[in-house]
Amino acid sequence: MNKCTNAGNFDMPEPSAVVHFDIFTLFPSMFAGPLSESIVKRAQEAGLLSVALHNIRKYTTDRHHICDEPPYGGGGGMVMKPDPIIRAVETVMTQPPGWTLPEEKAYGDLPPWSADRPTPLPDAMPMVLLTPQGRRLTQDVVAELSAYRRIGLVCGRYEGVDERVRTQLATDEISIGDYVLSGGELAAMVLVDAVTRWIPGALGHAMGAHRDSHSPGLDGLLEGPQYTRPLVFRGETVPEVLLSGHHAQVAAWRRQQALLRTLRRRPEFLSNLTLTDADYAFLKQHGWRAERTQEG
Ligand code: ADE
Repeated sequence: MNKCTNAGNFDMPEPSAVVHFDIFTLFPSMFAGPLSESIVKRAQEAGLLSVALHNIRKYTTDRHHICDEPPYGGGGGMVMKPDPIIRAVETVMTQPPGWTLPEEKAYGDLPPWSADRPTPLPDAMPMVLLTPQGRRLTQDVVAELSAYRRIGLVCGRYEGVDERVRTQLATDEISIGDYVLSGGELAAMVLVDAVTRWIPGALGHAMGAHRDSHSPGLDGLLEGPQYTRPLVFRGETVPEVLLSGHHAQVAAWRRQQALLRTLRRRPEFLSNLTLTDADYAFLKQHGWRAERTQEG
């Protein structure tokens, strides 16, 4: 099984999954629930996904294991120090995927590391800082990340992280939305979940995430309504076309419902999509006023 634990061993890293995440955090136990349920759990069991959690605090060497300090220049709050974060990342990311710091090495007996000179990290390994100032996590960004074998996620806390984590370590900064969380952990969980859906085989059905809303299988449209049993619920009946067994009609209905839902909820998506003449006619009929931008 590829699931990584924090047991850690220098000689026996877990075998690499299709996508491996190294998550750097002060609160590794926050991840227990999301990583041990449902699709993310099954993907780990199937050897498609592996996640190693790294407690930044274990990479401190002072008596009080300090990870944050007041900001230079004053102002409220605390800022995460760069050295424990950068030490943790440079130590872990130069080891094979699945490596974690052995418990007895934490704090006092850490592997050698230079505070003066950067340790080169392998190429093609994004180091993502989760921050509300980052580029927005969209389905395109998720698809882009899912192409990497190994991804590092750094979860900031307190009022922020020292700027040198950005300038010297992060290769990417990602936000899950224009609001401020208490730290990057919840954002990291969102990112891991969304990327997992893109790993071939993780969803257990052929189309996978390609049929999700915002995805290529739906041409960037929102997915339309879905129904299952019972046929009638509190007087509301499943649309007849879905019972017809007529695949072409079902497909046409689904396309129209996706168009309609996108028009009503996220009309701004429509102007960037490749739509057919039939799509345009249908949308116009339902009040869409935008002009066709492309030749057709
Ligand atoms: N950390 C705090 N708020 C965040 C957000 N919106 N996205 C990513 N990381 C964050």
